[in-house]
Amino acid sequence: MAPPRTPTLVASPSLWDPVVRLTHWGIAASIVLNALLDEGGSLFHVWVGWTVMALLLMRLVWGAIGPAEARFSAFPPNPLAALRHLRELATGKVRPHPSHNPAGAMMAYALWATLAVVTVTGLIMTGGATPMQVASDKAAVASGDWSALIKDSEGESDEDRSFGKAAEEVHEVAANLLLVLAALHLAGVFLESRALRRNLVAAMLTGHRDK
Ligand code: HEM
Ligand code: HEM
Repeated sequence: MAPPRTPTLVASPSLWDPVVRLTHWGIAASIVLNALLDEGGSLFHVWVGWTVMALLLMRLVWGAIGPAEARFSAFPPNPLAALRHLRELATGKVRPHPSHNPAGAMMAYALWATLAVVTVTGLIMTGGATPMQVASDKAAVASGDWSALIKDSEGESDEDRSFGKAAEEVHEVAANLLLVLAALHLAGVFLESRALRRNLVAAMLTGHRDK
């Protein structure tokens, strides 16, 4: 009788494509930099802010046109399904999902929405000035007087000023909320990996599931 054939090694199915991985780790690193490590409002901060905006836009476009697992249709926002999933997680009875699980999906949307608030308020504070424009007016940046970058700041009314102040407050609160959500996200990744006995972080790094 012929000896049994050695099984052919096949590559594990690709789960997270390069765009998902690049935008994930780029967004994560930018948030850590801007929220914890650099000086809020510095030129570097604005550069990182514009980078994160580009990464967020890229991921949102990819959610519409990317491969199946990356599309929003693969992980629709569904709060009830998210709660059901958390209940399953608490009882240790989770099942694998082809894309994000329903709780992870809600977290992804919450993180993206909060990041959008942070970037929009950042743009309001800087009058939409690009990092190049900010660099050309370093004096204004150093003095913290962002109104100098806003075109036609001569005519800035009290109303404009209080709008800018409100944007600053919202920017700070949303930046802190991002950190809280990221901590919950990490706890979720850890608990889900343990329940599934699957290394989800390795999959987000390499793109492949470990089983
Ligand atoms: C990853 C995204 C971002 C995070 C996590 C973040 C976080 C922060 C934090 C923590 C502060 C300090 C707040 C305070 O203590 O008053 C700050 C200040 C500031 N951020 Fe951001 N930021 C982000 C994106 C942006 C963007 C996109 C812009 C502009 C295009 C921007 C412009 C500013 C400015 C001008 C200030 C100074 C506010 C002031 O003190 O007057 N940020 N940011
Ligand atoms: C500020 C920090 C972070 C933010 C804002 C963030 C945000 C996100 C978002 C939006 C997603 C959905 C990805 C997509 O579909 O494009 C995601 C997924 C994921 N993140 Fe993060 N992340 C952060 C930090 C981290 C860190 C430090 C780790 C690992 C140590 C991590 C591990 C993962 C994993 C494994 C997934 C996929 C989960 C799954 O299999 O469903 N994240 N994250």
